[in-house]
Amino acid sequence: MATYLVTGGAGFIGSHLCDRLLAEGKRVVAVDDLSSGRIANLAEARSYGQQLTFHTIDIRHPEIRALFERYRPEVVLHTAAQPSVAVSIKDPALDASINLIGLLNVLECAAGTGVRKVVFAASGGTLYGEPKALPVKENARNRAKPVSPYGISKAVGIQYLEFYRRTRGLDFTALALGNIYGPRQDPYGEAGVIAIFTAGMLSGETPTIFGDGEQTRDYTFVDDAVHAFALAAERGSGEVVNVGTGVETSVNRLFNLMCTLTGFRGQPQYGPRREGDLRRSALDVELAAKELGWQPWTSLKDGLRMTVDSFRQG
Ligand SMILES: NC(=O)c1ccc[n+]([C@@H]2O[C@H](COP(=O)([O-])OP(=O)(O)OC[C@H]3O[C@@H](n4cnc5c(N)ncnc54)[C@H](O)[C@@H]3O)[C@@H](O)[C@H]2O)c1
Repeated sequence: MATYLVTGGAGFIGSHLCDRLLAEGKRVVAVDDLSSGRIANLAEARSYGQQLTFHTIDIRHPEIRALFERYRPEVVLHTAAQPSVAVSIKDPALDASINLIGLLNVLECAAGTGVRKVVFAASGGTLYGEPKALPVKENARNRAKPVSPYGISKAVGIQYLEFYRRTRGLDFTALALGNIYGPRQDPYGEAGVIAIFTAGMLSGETPTIFGDGEQTRDYTFVDDAVHAFALAAERGSGEVVNVGTGVETSVNRLFNLMCTLTGFRGQPQYGPRREGDLRRSALDVELAAKELGWQPWTSLKDGLRMTVDSFRQG
């Protein structure tokens, strides 16, 4: 049975990924320091018994090496990160410590223990800076400037992946993810507008829209994103690949859709625009179709409905 190591395995995307890999019959080693992830996210994964092992450990810690030596994973799916633009602006050193030093620790261990491939959770919403044309293609990153420390660390992370591929033969695919949403996303963090809106609206609290609400994002359902990770473990090589829908949705439109789904009747409250936030974002996903055989198949309405239902139940 092939062993796959998932960093950030108790997080939002990481835990869904563990479920998917276990369902495919893989042995999964999930690693997380539980700084924002929750062990409860692995409830479904735990039902696979010994096919899953979980380790509470910081990816920056030297002990990670012992895990790689013990399990000898074939593939590493690297989702552990400091995932918030706002936090990265407040504390760029913390962001770099987790998103770069942590990544380097993982890459050193992977290169030193015969890992075949790393699939990296990059960020399509920040990698390209303010895009000149939409939907944005992967080659736009050659002349792009990320506008936040989070975007910078994710962009530099890709350069490290390229370095390890060139010098150590460690293959990678970097998935430039749109705004991923769905069940289990943390509604109390500083990222994840859909989770924040859902939790707020269901408890009758008025959500805050930062800026005028006409900023757009490429909202992508978590199940579609996880499918891209699973495909990228087997296909593609040494590339950045967008994972989104190609569709721009404004925060104001999102708010209206969510009012209908949650039954919220209030008006939004508007706050100041947040530093580091882009005006527009949507990802071109032709390369993902070509390289990974991937395409999104969940409409925003369906994805939002599943998200709201899961928050209602949970
Ligand atoms: N959700 C999105 O819209 C989105 C978009 C683009 C990229 N990403 C990237 O996808 C990945 C997963 O994001 P998510 O939304 O699931 O966030 P998340 O916060 O739910 O998951 C990150 C996980 O990493 C863990 N973690 C953080 N620091 C760690 C450390 N030092 N050692 C071990 N574990 C650590 C956290 O506890 C958490 O479980 C991140 O790399 C993020 O940057 C997410």
